[in-house]
Amino acid sequence: MSRSILISGGFIAASMLLLAACGSGQEGKAATPAAAPAPPPVAASPAIQKIYDSTCSNCHGKPASGAPQLGDAKAWAPRVAQGREVVLGHIINGYQGMPPMGLCMQCAEDDFIAVTEYMAGAKLQ
Ligand code: HEC
Repeated sequence: MSRSILISGGFIAASMLLLAACGSGQEGKAATPAAAPAPPPVAASPAIQKIYDSTCSNCHGKPASGAPQLGDAKAWAPRVAQGREVVLGHIINGYQGMPPMGLCMQCAEDDFIAVTEYMAGAKLQ
């Protein structure tokens, strides 16, 4: 009983130290973002989050891949505007740097739509 309290106390102390270290490192930087950052996107379900984490994020979470990134509404807007059928066709058949089925061979069409809506932050019509 008392042992676990000690362990969690130690963890909290360690995290506070880390936070303090971060804070002192940033004191030199005066830059403050002009607008508050958009809230992080939320996946429709844990299963959709898992698909993103295990496959799509390898490119859609790495700017160097050239793929439109998670939560980058501007990059996604023209793609979403193509409509659900066109986008789904591009996912299933592949499209330029986008591999067929986004390398998720066990994913269903509804999964692709849900993950895309999560990444785009917009509904596919
Ligand atoms: C190996 C890298 C890679 C993986 C893995 C990947 N993508 Fe992509 N994806 C891309 C790239 C690169 C593009 C941009 C293609 C272009 O427009 O040139 C793209 C574009 C897209 C588009 C937009 C297509 C359009 O019509 O403009 C959708 C939707 C998409 N990906 C969904 C997914 C989903 C869902 C997954 C996971 C199941 C996934 N991708 C996994 C690289 C990847």
